Amino acid sequence: MNEIVSTITHYVKQKLENEGSGHDWHHIERVVQHAEVIAKAEGANDFICIVAALVHDLADDKIASTEAEGLKEVERLLEDVNREDREHIIEIISSISFKGGNRPPVTTLEAQVVQDADRLDAIGAIGIARTLVYAGAKGDLIYDPSITVRDNMTPEAYRSGQSTAINHFYEKLLHLKELMNTAKGKELAQQRHEFMEQFLDQFHDEWAGRK
Ligand code: ADP
Ligand code: NI
Repeated sequence: MNEIVSTITHYVKQKLENEGSGHDWHHIERVVQHAEVIAKAEGANDFICIVAALVHDLADDKIASTEAEGLKEVERLLEDVNREDREHIIEIISSISFKGGNRPPVTTLEAQVVQDADRLDAIGAIGIARTLVYAGAKGDLIYDPSITVRDNMTPEAYRSGQSTAINHFYEKLLHLKELMNTAKGKELAQQRHEFMEQFLDQFHDEWAGRK
């Protein structure tokens, strides 16, 4: 492994090892793995994709005290990366988060790859598990039919408004397949998407006493 990548890997690993908000080190490892696969298929710059995947959650407001502080930390961490690549990586991590959905599409191929890699880890069996853990940590219910599904949320409403674990599938996760940027990302999302649909069908059948 390239020395810069190895230093950054160590830093991120020790920082996120015990993170409990669904952004733990294993999430990062999976996103790096997806990013490598997609970058290869799409002909993207793999160094940029791997490093951006490694640092993509460090500026998240659940991990850093503020997004600006988090971005400063990433800049320090990337001091040995050449300026052009560093600016590109910072640009990627500032632009890929979902935050309610009303965000402009990302522009560079590498940003598309990392966003797809992060989104893949939000769907499928892993996505279901992360959603349940996140909802539990936030104090949300598994499901409550009286709480309606929201659309077109502001970032604030997305973060702090009332929701349930099951509503999160309709508010975000079921949209991700269509939002994938790359052909490889779309291909990998398909089966994970179908698995979530099966889970929701079964959930509603059990809830209604049909199964
Ligand atoms: P993003 O910033 O891309 O929206 P998050 O950092 O908010 O993603 O999400 C971390 C994980 O928790 C993801 O798997 C996401 O789908 C899930 N998650 C986010 N918000 C909620 C929520 N309100 N209820 C349940 N799961 C959530
Ligand atoms: Ni992430």
